[in-house]
Amino acid sequence: MSDILISERITGAAVDALSDDFTVATEPDLWRSPDDLRDRLAGFRALMVRNQTQVDARLIASAPSLEVIGRAGVGTDNIDLDAAKQHGVAVVYTPEQNAISVAELVMGSMLSLARHIPAASLNASEGGWDRHRFMGVELYGKTLGIVGLGRIGHRLGIRARAFGMDIVAHDPFVRADGVVASELRSPMLSLTELLARSDFVSCHMPLIPETKHLFNDAAFAAMRPTAYFVNAARGGVVDETALIRALRDGDIAGAALDVREVEPPVASPLNDMDNVILTPHIAALTDEAQERVVASLCGDVAAVLRGEMPAHIAR
Ligand code: MLT
Repeated sequence: MSDILISERITGAAVDALSDDFTVATEPDLWRSPDDLRDRLAGFRALMVRNQTQVDARLIASAPSLEVIGRAGVGTDNIDLDAAKQHGVAVVYTPEQNAISVAELVMGSMLSLARHIPAASLNASEGGWDRHRFMGVELYGKTLGIVGLGRIGHRLGIRARAFGMDIVAHDPFVRADGVVASELRSPMLSLTELLARSDFVSCHMPLIPETKHLFNDAAFAAMRPTAYFVNAARGGVVDETALIRALRDGDIAGAALDVREVEPPVASPLNDMDNVILTPHIAALTDEAQERVVASLCGDVAAVLRGEMPAHIAR
């Protein structure tokens, strides 16, 4: 029997070190072929993935030796947690290891939207010098609405306050008198109130049935026409058709999307909108975050295989 199968690109010193104690097979493109993955996984005790491997009930049921699934990241929406539980397979993940990187990408996205940095860079590199086409706005003094005040939302709030932004937040699980909202001096609002008050809205909700298409026609209609929307959480929390309509009709001023409903995305009108910034799900991809993520994940996968208690179990 083999030990660990890695079906996406997960690398680093901690992965290399796993080979001291376990047999490790790294097949970074295996996620692309669910049939091959099912065949291959049959003899393994552990599967390590990012967000592109769909670990569904069928895959889990077809792997009788499987003891643990390791998810290199915070979102577990690509893993059928109920099926894993039913088959006695532990799921470990990295709930906080990339939070700083994601918060930093959102700051970069807000600055890029406010100052039109990608379009201005393209203009200059193509030999243009159209300075006045790129008149922007400051983040200073603006209101940032954070939807989801967990580990990432909290860190984003700290950084945004350093830029002189006011914070308002929506999160059904965070108390207005708790330490996070108090530290950020952020009133906890209903989603509709937040959308109406914010100059920038950033989503940090997991994708669960309750949050699917949370940002729909009604949500975008509730935003200010001068407001910018940022999503570095999960594509499925946004109804992209509604977003496209809102951008076209001027319900909102612009959007920055690091995640999409379908990844890699299919051709979309978003590709041709000059008030939209698209990045290919890079929020967690920094040297520092990946070192933390991979070290934590490998430690937890090894712990389960040794019969020890892992630090981060997804439920
Ligand atoms: C996450 O859930 O943390 C991200 O999707 C990580 C990743 O880049 O795979």
